Parts: sequence; structure tokens; C-alpha cells
Amino acid sequence: MSKFVIQGQTPLKGQIKVNGAKNSALKIIPASLLSEETVTINNLPAIEDIKLSLEIIKAVGGVVNRQDHQCSISTKNIQTTSIPPELANKFRASIMFVGPILARTGEVSFPHPGGCVIGAGVRPIDLFLEGFSALGATIHIANNYYHLTAKKLKGTEYFFTTVSVTGTEALMMTATLAEGRTTLKNCAMEPEIVALANYLNTQGAKISGAGTPTITIEGVDYIKGGNFTVIPDRIETGTFAILAAASQTELLITNCHPDHIAILLNIFHKIGVRFEQGENWLKMLPSPKIKAYNIKTHEYPGFPTDLQSPYTVLMTQAQGLSIIHETIYDRRLLFTDMLTQMGANIIMCDPHRVVVNGPTPLHSRKLTSPDLRAGIAMVIAALIAEGTTEIDNIYQIERGYEALAERLQAIGVNIHRID
Ligand code: EPZ
Repeated sequence: MSKFVIQGQTPLKGQIKVNGAKNSALKIIPASLLSEETVTINNLPAIEDIKLSLEIIKAVGGVVNRQDHQCSISTKNIQTTSIPPELANKFRASIMFVGPILARTGEVSFPHPGGCVIGAGVRPIDLFLEGFSALGATIHIANNYYHLTAKKLKGTEYFFTTVSVTGTEALMMTATLAEGRTTLKNCAMEPEIVALANYLNTQGAKISGAGTPTITIEGVDYIKGGNFTVIPDRIETGTFAILAAASQTELLITNCHPDHIAILLNIFHKIGVRFEQGENWLKMLPSPKIKAYNIKTHEYPGFPTDLQSPYTVLMTQAQGLSIIHETIYDRRLLFTDMLTQMGANIIMCDPHRVVVNGPTPLHSRKLTSPDLRAGIAMVIAALIAEGTTEIDNIYQIERGYEALAERLQAIGVNIHRID
């Protein structure tokens, strides 16, 4: 397994460019299957999950031309409606292909999707199955494979009993080709959902309400191909901002949307983290004394669960007690035992709540990255810790952050990748 070796406490300074949002790109790629025409995607992050997603397009018969951070996808002839298990098992977003294939061909087969183990065991897809059946699909389950068929999808009304980002995106994009009106209630409101809806509308879909809890989709017969530019990754933006705050670094973060992390910036104001912002840049300023502040993760525009792990590291350097309440996932606080081993003073009240008592100096350890976001949190902990820290299983980190070691070296982090 590859690992990172990080020498902590080196002076950092400079600027870092934010890449296209992983969780936007992982939806537009499957959505390209809604059209027979070519879809060109710009500002695509060069990470493992994107590669896997494009592999699925090729596996079902699509043609992919990729140059650096751009790709064009043509899915005129879909040759198979079965999603290969060896690809589907590697990442949860493989579920996003189910709806478009079903809408285009009337059938689809797939295994239970894989991905990081932050939910309770295998991540549930009950909302997807309920939604597809509400749209008229027949569901047949045989030896851990799902087979969905639908002559023609019909508009429906569906209420999400749990707010689900990918659930909202899956049903929204699929309903664009259903007959009649679909109303989705209790939807997620992430910026990536709005970006997807705006794109589909420019290609002939009729979606209204994206970004609010109720989304209405008037079915159409045809979705044109077109050009999609992936929005900046708000989780990368927030992660690098927290990295700068934790290491008291002056850091210019470019090619980002500060308004997509408004909640974090509001908390920065409250806890004494200084910064300046423009429309597409954020300049973090060294802030020696920061105050502890409680957070409770929540769907957008609340505090993003994907920033919880980096924020928890920041709280180990803040003055006082802070409660971190992770409401979305059952296992996303388990990484804190590694922070405790590094010297943090953290008490786990229950699987969803920890109390952090700061500030405490951190010292180096040998760590293993359990998931994408805990992994980047360990990188932040390592670069503020005294000594040399090793983090292995960095596949889990690199699947979400392109060229991370190189980008951190460019701002002065003493980080090396060892294969
Ligand atoms: C998306 O995951 C993101 N992934 C996650 O980012 C992010 O943490 C999450 O939204 C919450 O913001 C992608 O967009 C690819 P959910 P998603 O469905 O959609 C339950 C990262 O690090 N649920 O909003 O899979 C589920 O168990 C990843 O980039 C059901 O019960 O999350 C969870 O408790 C991690 N049944 C809650 O909903 C379902 O059918 C929210 O999950 C679906 C979900």
C-alpha cells in the first residue's frame, strides 16, 4: 500500500488552486447517458472515482475521449444494461448510473454499490429503489443483483423520508425522461444539485425548484448533448481553509466559490480565524488564538459532514471545549481515536458525538486512512504535529484529492509519497 510521510511544523505559505467538485462530476458523467448526443465535461478532477465512473460509461458501450481535465462522452449506442460489479463495488456513486440506463433502455441490472464505510456497514439504497418503483419500475432481486425494468417511466410524487444527496440527484435526473410530472419532496439542496439541474435544463429538461426542498420535473422526450463545466469543489475549499487555520498559514485559495462554504466562514468569524474573500478566491490569514465552537453536521446549507473530520482537527488547536455532533453517518467520528493517540484530548460520548478539549500539541504517529475525509484530516494533523507521521492506505485520500502531495509541497509541506 502507498503511504504519505509528513514532517510536521514546517512554515507554510503560498496559494492553492481548487479542482472541480468530485461530487458534481460523479453525477454529470452518469447523466450524460440521458442523451444520445455528445456531452463535453470541463474542469473534471483527475481522481480515481472519476476514472471508475468513465470506465462504467465505456463498459455499457459509451465512447469516452479524455484529455487532462476535460472529457467528451457519447452514448449513442448502449450495448449492455448491466453495471459491471467489479466497478460498481469500488465506489458508491456507481448507483448514479441506474436511473439514466433505466430511462434510456427500459431495463438495468446492478449489484449493491461499494464505497467508503462511513455509514452503518453497507450504505443503504432503499430510497433509490422506492423512488424508481414510484416512477413505475419493477424491481427483481436475484443473488445480490438488482434487476429493474420499466417500459416507460411515469411521473410520480415521492417524499424522501431521509434527505439524500445522491437520492435527490438520481430521481431528479431520471424523471427528466418520465412521462408527465414528477414532484420530489424533502430534497437535498447542495450546490451540485443546482448545477446538475441548470445543465439539464439547458439541454431540454424541465426541472424547477433545485436548491429547495421541493423539485418538480416535467418529463420530456429528448435531452440534448452539451457542455458542462464542473463547479469548484466546496469540500476541497473548506479543507484547505481549515488546513491554513490549523497551521496558522497565510494561504490564497483560488478558483473557488466562498459562498458555497458560507457556514464555515461564519464560524471562522466567530472563532477568530481571519480571512479575506472575493468572488472566486479566499485568502486565509495567520490567526494565532482561535476559540472552540460546537458544530452539528447537517445537509446543505448546514455544516457539511465532509468537513467534519478536518474541523475536528482544528478544534484540537482551539481554546476550550467543543462538541462535534456528526448527525449524518454512524462511523465518521471513529478516526478521532487516532487523533487521541497523537495527543489530542477527545472524549467520545457516543458514536455521533465527541467533546474536544483544546489546545493540545500533537505528536507524530503511524496512521491508516479509513476513509477519504478522515484521511485528509490526518494529513492536516500530521502537518501541525511535532515529528514525522506516516499515513498508509492513501488510496482512500487520493480518490478524492488530485495530486495532493504535489499541491501541498508547493505551499511548503514536507510530504512525500512512498509506493
Ligand atoms: C453524498 O453521499 C456525498 N457523496 C457524500 O460525500 C456526502 O458525505 C453525503 O452526500 C452527505 O452530504 C456523493 O455525492 C457521491 P446521502 P450520499 O444519500 O448521497 C442515508 C465524500 O466524502 N440514505 O445524502 O450517498 C445514508 O445512509 C462522500 O465525498 C438512506 O438511508 O449520502 C445517510 O445516513 C462521502 N437510504 C443519509 O441518507 C438511501 O437510499 C445521507 O446520505 C440513501 C441514503
